[in-house]
Amino acid sequence: MIVCVCNALGERQVRAAARSGTPTACPIAAYARLGCKPRCGQCLSHAREIVRAA
Ligand code: FES
Repeated sequence: MIVCVCNALGERQVRAAARSGTPTACPIAAYARLGCKPRCGQCLSHAREIVRAA
């Protein structure tokens, strides 16, 4: 399932990024690990839930 339309990021990618290296609960840090940054910001609340659960 797509989490971030602007960056075409899926739930699995975001979860894996949150778990890689030092685990993070910050969606912006997880996006950075994928070489992306938030654009419109619409996805951040959902992305935050995913990284916190990860
Ligand atoms: S949907 Fe993620 S920044 Fe726009």
